[in-house]
Amino acid sequence: MHNHRLSILLCISLLGSAAQSALAAAGAPVQQQAYAVSAVAAGTASSLARTTQLSLVNEQLQQYGQSFEQLTVQVTPETASRLHVKVAPTGQQLWEVPESIVPRPGSEPGLSSSSLQYAVELSQPGQPFGLTVNRKSNGQPIFDTNGHRFIFKDQYIELTTNVPEDADLYGLGEVSLPTGLLLPRDGTVITMWARDLASAMPYVNLYGSHPFYLQINRDGSSHGVLFLNSNGMDVSLNKTSLTYKVIGGLVDLYFFTGPTPEEVIRQYHQVIGAPAMTPYWSLGFHQTRWGYQNISVLEEVVANYTAVDLPLEVVWSDIEYMSTRFWTMEFDEHRYPAAKMKSFVEGLHEQGQHWVAIQDAGVAADKGYKAYEEGTRDRVWITDHKGKDYLGQVWPGKTVYPDYLDNANTSRWLVDNLQHMYDKVPYDGLWLDMNEASNFCSGMQCKPNRRNKTATYWLEVETPRDYNINELIPLRTTCQMSCEEPAADNKWESPPYNIQNFDNTGMRENRQAGLGWKTIAPSALHANGAREYDAHNLYGTAMALEHHAAVEKITGKRPFLLTRSTFPGAGRFTAHWTGDNGVNWENLYMSIAGIINTNMWGMPMVGADICGFADMAFKEGGSPDVIPESSLRELCNRWASLGAFYPFSRNHYAYFTRSHEYYQWPDVAAAAKKAYSLRYQLLSYIYSGFFLAHVKGGTVARPLLFTDPSDVDARNATAQWMMGEALLVSPVVTEATTTIKPHFTAGAWYNAWDNTRMTLSKGQAVELEVPLGDIAVHYRGGAVIPTQPYAKVTRDIRLAPVTLLVTLPAEPAGKSEAAGPLAPYAHEEVCAAAIEENEGQLVSCGLLYMDRGDDIQVSADNTVQVWYTAVSSADGRSGTLSSTIKAHAGDAAGKLRIAAVHILGVPAAEGTAVPAASINGRPLAAAFDETAGVLKISGIELLVGEPLDITWTLGSFSG
Ligand SMILES: *[C@@H]1O[C@H](CO)[C@@H](O)[C@H](O)[C@H]1NC(C)=O
Ligand SMILES: *[C@@H]1O[C@H](CO)[C@@H](O)[C@H](O)[C@H]1NC(C)=O
Ligand SMILES: *[C@@H]1O[C@H](CO)[C@@H](O)[C@H](O)[C@H]1NC(C)=O
Ligand SMILES: *[C@@H]1O[C@H](CO)[C@@H](O)[C@H](O)[C@H]1NC(C)=O
Repeated sequence: MHNHRLSILLCISLLGSAAQSALAAAGAPVQQQAYAVSAVAAGTASSLARTTQLSLVNEQLQQYGQSFEQLTVQVTPETASRLHVKVAPTGQQLWEVPESIVPRPGSEPGLSSSSLQYAVELSQPGQPFGLTVNRKSNGQPIFDTNGHRFIFKDQYIELTTNVPEDADLYGLGEVSLPTGLLLPRDGTVITMWARDLASAMPYVNLYGSHPFYLQINRDGSSHGVLFLNSNGMDVSLNKTSLTYKVIGGLVDLYFFTGPTPEEVIRQYHQVIGAPAMTPYWSLGFHQTRWGYQNISVLEEVVANYTAVDLPLEVVWSDIEYMSTRFWTMEFDEHRYPAAKMKSFVEGLHEQGQHWVAIQDAGVAADKGYKAYEEGTRDRVWITDHKGKDYLGQVWPGKTVYPDYLDNANTSRWLVDNLQHMYDKVPYDGLWLDMNEASNFCSGMQCKPNRRNKTATYWLEVETPRDYNINELIPLRTTCQMSCEEPAADNKWESPPYNIQNFDNTGMRENRQAGLGWKTIAPSALHANGAREYDAHNLYGTAMALEHHAAVEKITGKRPFLLTRSTFPGAGRFTAHWTGDNGVNWENLYMSIAGIINTNMWGMPMVGADICGFADMAFKEGGSPDVIPESSLRELCNRWASLGAFYPFSRNHYAYFTRSHEYYQWPDVAAAAKKAYSLRYQLLSYIYSGFFLAHVKGGTVARPLLFTDPSDVDARNATAQWMMGEALLVSPVVTEATTTIKPHFTAGAWYNAWDNTRMTLSKGQAVELEVPLGDIAVHYRGGAVIPTQPYAKVTRDIRLAPVTLLVTLPAEPAGKSEAAGPLAPYAHEEVCAAAIEENEGQLVSCGLLYMDRGDDIQVSADNTVQVWYTAVSSADGRSGTLSSTIKAHAGDAAGKLRIAAVHILGVPAAEGTAVPAASINGRPLAAAFDETAGVLKISGIELLVGEPLDITWTLGSFSG
């Protein structure tokens, strides 16, 4: 075991000076550290950046190749809350995440050192390497490598930071953890190497790579760390530290000082890019399945939703629409004839509905297929290490893979082929699948095995006309090609350090798989010279980037994309779903962490497959099992209620899974109807949250703990989530359960179904009865929440009259301690000012944002952005509501109006209530609902662009 005290003593005696900086005292002596500081170059007058040279003094780790002799450390304060530290071998050009995929913002001009919220300490010349970053205000450590070795080789980097035992960590992925959102600190290793493995499988690396974590300290202060590196990596977590083991690239660290969790996330997104604005219609409900075998079945799905009077905004097509050989971007002439699809989709559009089509990463290598022949002519494919088109096997059989990394040929090819598809059927969005990239074979290069007739048959057989694929798919997804195996010493295929990229034969105790396992060979090449070994984790993001540009060009509208594989920055282009989950309760629970993590990663538009994708569960050490029919129905009922509050709400499942559209069971349909009716009434509130994330970065779905980071009991309340600043969703996540004890942070909370109030002086669990078909949803006190009447398609809601819900907070402004609950929208200018200016009063605040729904750019020139501030007396019986108009333009201006205001949490007075209200001096109708404590003001009829000034009181008359 590492003896910390001993190393301190050794350090002092060896260096001979107790006066050296605290970091040196805590660090290992030179002999125990690979690198020592050799020189420090001061920053220039115009920049706070500093450069430090490190020299190898001790080859500490004999394995994994030789360490670099000289390293350059660049420490660059970029903003008051963001520090950039980059370590690279001196004078050498190594792979790093390309700016074309993740453009870096650089430093803010004119930054002064006094404004920095952090202090950086690097060892003095002659001393062993050590890096500490502290929070300047209180000296609290943010990052601290002291006491740990730092190794930097061509294919192995090791870096460790101390993490206080009582701090909590969140955000590394993509992985499904049965324990939920909070990262376990028990030696768990989170591996980052994108691959096509069902998210139903816990603990293993999944589709995306996100080397970002959020740390929340005991006192509620938080910070974030990004290790911007696309190479394969293991991150191990234990009680006292976090260790990165990375197999290439550079040490490229960004630190974000928050100090609130939501500010950390915003600061992070300022580096990787704020999320794309999602089209308004995409907030409606989506239905899809892998295996709607022909267009008539798809039409039936739409008709069946209509028959039970449930909203269906978007219907999707999985790979069954593709031609008999699964040619992506082509329609099957028997099952999904393009002409029929065109009129079907036009019919959907007339009803205000939409259609989204899947796209696969792999392109069938078939003669006579336009996309393949043109791509081959234009050299669009990734090549093997010898420069020949790399062949793998996916649904179509033999496939090639478009090279989306900085390849102008591919961009042109994509626009041309997506236009060709759009001309046939005007899709509303695209679903980018299998883009890890998936390959059912593994090898340096693969080719059909002509000598084996059975293998060749399964590789080339056409999809049956009735889409009966039960026999076809298992054999198609088994490698039927013969592939060249890499030599054991191939440095790209078998690097010296094996990240924990296990195969799928077991769980944590499973077998090591090579990096090339079921993906494009790591030795394969991109046209720009990049090797797949380095660029692998970027495939899905590069594909999304190119599709975003192409769809924008083709449709002239804001693209809607959904991708499976992601890397930091993907959210600038695309939404994400959590992949192939299981039809079981564990996966319902894990979906909540999946949604929250993806929001932290900059993709607020995220959902899990509602009711589960695959009818099986992966149990650690156990065999897959299938839940019984009665349980499936209950699960789907609960999941419908919960999924209605995912940012991206889609029911999806596999051809081999039991049908679970909401209309399959009346009670599930009723549960869905109830939950979606509330969601649809809140669309403008949810959309306003997306707008804030789009312009400032940040989350839409987030952990409850973000409302009060100092509430330690909220840290692991991960069966709940906040949708934006003011809506808490507390679903039932276990079977045969009608009583739950969700956590609530201190303050006022309002039951969204009956508006009744609950006031908590401190965070606590509250017992709630939640019968099947119901879900606990609460509004936070201190918000203004726009609502509109329910309609079956979003088109009919967007400009409908708005009722503003004003939720009175528990405490007057200015009373709360520095550490305590954060008021809703406390980070927003208008709301922060209202809180500041109205000490002693109850302040509620919120935003109404609206636009045309699918404009490419949103700005003050084509949107409505109105902030509402309600200031009420401390007794909650009188107040005012006023608006701050930040933008009033575009299609919603002149149409969107405020019809009513409901003040929630007004205490009844003795005697008969006498409610009164007026707007700009004109009296308004006012009524008081004494049971719920809601004062309802109606007859307002004011365009949102007209200044609003409402005064209200609840007087009383006793007699
Ligand atoms: C967090 O909650 C989950 C689910 O209830 C539980 O399994 C886990 O042990 C909890 N972790 C901590 C650290 O309390
Ligand atoms: C945690 O990991 C670090 C780095 O590998 C190691 O030095 C330390 O001993 C570990 N601590 C515990 C409590 O396991
Ligand atoms: C639609 O509903 C009908 C009548 O209940 C049912 O027979 C059919 O299977 C349903 N179709 C689909 C695709 O769910
Ligand atoms: C030929 O391919 C089939 C299907 O993949 C496989 O089961 C069989 O073992 C192969 N035969 C030989 C001789 O490799």
